[in-house]
Amino acid sequence: MNNRRKIVVIGASNVGSAVANKIADFQLATEVALIDLNEDKAWGEAKDSSHATSCIYSTNIKFHLGDYDDCKDANIIVITAGPSIRPGETPDRLKLAGTNAKIMQSVFGEIVKRTKSAMIIMITNPLDVATYVVSTQFDYPRNLILGTGTMLETYRFRRILADKYQVDPKNINGYVLGEHGNAAFVAWSTTGCAGFPIDDLDEYFHKTDKLSHEAVEQELVQVAYDVINRKGFTNTGIAMAACRFIKAVLYDEHTILPCSAVLEGEYGLKDVALSIPRMVCADGIMRSFEVHLTDDELEKMHKAAQSVRSALDGAGIK
Ligand SMILES: NC(=O)c1ccc[n+]([C@@H]2O[C@H](COP(=O)([O-])OP(=O)(O)OC[C@H]3O[C@@H](n4cnc5c(N)ncnc54)[C@H](O)[C@@H]3O)[C@@H](O)[C@H]2O)c1
Repeated sequence: MNNRRKIVVIGASNVGSAVANKIADFQLATEVALIDLNEDKAWGEAKDSSHATSCIYSTNIKFHLGDYDDCKDANIIVITAGPSIRPGETPDRLKLAGTNAKIMQSVFGEIVKRTKSAMIIMITNPLDVATYVVSTQFDYPRNLILGTGTMLETYRFRRILADKYQVDPKNINGYVLGEHGNAAFVAWSTTGCAGFPIDDLDEYFHKTDKLSHEAVEQELVQVAYDVINRKGFTNTGIAMAACRFIKAVLYDEHTILPCSAVLEGEYGLKDVALSIPRMVCADGIMRSFEVHLTDDELEKMHKAAQSVRSALDGAGIK
């Protein structure tokens, strides 16, 4: 019986190591290979994670330093290579476009020489730029390239409302869509809490401070920079988001989650990658949904597209 499941994680710093360790926590692989330009870092992270597998609570997952040949038989490849926004820097991931587009071209150039069948989970920022670059500049099946996108903003949105109403964040449903970054927006028309309409929550939870859509949207964007400025980086939330997609693929879940891919005319948009609700299964992105948006939300979707497109133009990417 072949129960082998191999995951390659490229980029073994804050994000890559967190993803690798969560893969172990959730027993999502039998083998995890870590690749980084900094081989010592990848070796050290793999070795450290391997020590944890000796614990009675852990599964005996094979962690090791990898190289690109590990991609040949990988089921899933997670891409986290490339720098992040640092504490104190201008709070805009799009400024990483030029540098990280080049890194994506180099990393993906190595991947496509070895496989065209692994599921690719994109994490590197600017996420929508990185997803667009690998999807359009290489001959790789588009359905197998998924950017984590606004899944993370959606988690942040749930947490913000959960804290306001003191309810389980998993009771909060609905989507944050658009850019993973400053032009992310809440599709309020899709949101609710345990079946209650979102704008009735103040009444149900006896709140006198009224829900402000604008304040929530600002907070869910700003909080990422607040974490970076205080902690130095973000990694735990994104590692959870990555594992959510990995599970959806491994278990052929047909689950609908917000994630990024190149738009194919949805909302009248092309030539850009953005997050919209998409069904994820063993074949990757099975289909995308042009969920109904209000005029205001539609305008925000178009603004997100303009913002990502201008970063692509700035990096010389058609
Ligand atoms: N999508 C999201 O929601 C999300 C969330 C958090 C972080 N991120 C992004 O994830 C990326 C990684 O974040 P981090 O904090 O780990 O960054 P980091 O700067 O600490 O680490 C980046 C790593 O990439 C490696 N690297 C650079 N070029 C490489 C190449 N060509 N091949 C292999 N490895 C290479 C570096 O050696 C380094 O170890 C950043 O782009 C960050 O913005 C995305």
